[in-house]
Amino acid sequence: MLKEVTATRYIAPLREGGSLPGLVEADDRGTYVIKFTGAGQGRKTLVAEVVCGELARRLGLRVPGLVTVGLDPVLGLGEPEEQVQELLKSSGGTNLGMDFLTRAIGFDPLAFEVSAEEAGRVVWFDALINNVDRSWRNPNLLMWHGELWLIDHGATMIWHHNWPGAHTSAAKPYDASDHVLASFAPDVAAAAAELAPLVTEELLAEVTAEVPDVWLADEPGFETPDALRQAYARPLLERAVTIHKRIEGIK
Ligand SMILES: Nc1ncnc2c1ncn2[C@@H]1O[C@H](COP(=O)(O)OP(=O)(O)OP(=O)(O)O)[C@@H](O)[C@H]1O
Ligand SMILES: [Mg+2]
Repeated sequence: MLKEVTATRYIAPLREGGSLPGLVEADDRGTYVIKFTGAGQGRKTLVAEVVCGELARRLGLRVPGLVTVGLDPVLGLGEPEEQVQELLKSSGGTNLGMDFLTRAIGFDPLAFEVSAEEAGRVVWFDALINNVDRSWRNPNLLMWHGELWLIDHGATMIWHHNWPGAHTSAAKPYDASDHVLASFAPDVAAAAAELAPLVTEELLAEVTAEVPDVWLADEPGFETPDALRQAYARPLLERAVTIHKRIEGIK
């Protein structure tokens, strides 16, 4: 299970995010980027953040630490902005938090160099999770202390929106032509050789165990949160073996 903290103060909204993520202070004195359960994108976005973020971390990619943030909706009462107030009011309970990387800057492919090895690892990982949100328009990569950090894994694993068709959906190729690192000669073959063997049933069980039960409950077709955890693991396990042969749009 992820570390649990409780929000003590809402600091500000993060203006760039489509889902209106915010900054909160918590009872451990940490500052976290919070993604709300009450946001329009729904709790599946948060499940995807945890599954993919914790998988990335175990594969050696840099991802901010994740926590769950308990939120008392009364924190919203003092908010002057109606949109923020509504979001806080509808997000009582368990939300997602991530370590706030202070003074991180957005990755710009024209301003930073990335090695073919690192680009390969990121592109291969994004192919694995079917990430459609790492384009040059919206890189969702941060530079922090001179290194590349991965954020925002909410728009991944499209198959979790239609479980009966998941197997077919996960068998599809990955189009990397818009990927922000496509121009860095990503060495996906090397990345696959290094990372694919690490994506085991055991590792995926560990990763999916980090997802809070409350975000997995009541999914049609699944009796228990653990049954749904296994459904999350399966396509990733299968995809890891061959996805490098189905990455389109890069040389
Ligand atoms: N851990 C973090 N540390 C520092 N800044 C962050 C962090 N997470 C997010 N941000 C900043 O907040 C912005 C929005 O975050 P994120 O992309 O995760 O939200 P989102 O609502 O899913 O966004 P969108 O759908 O617009 O891509 C990021 O582009 C980045 O500038
Ligand atoms: Mg984003």
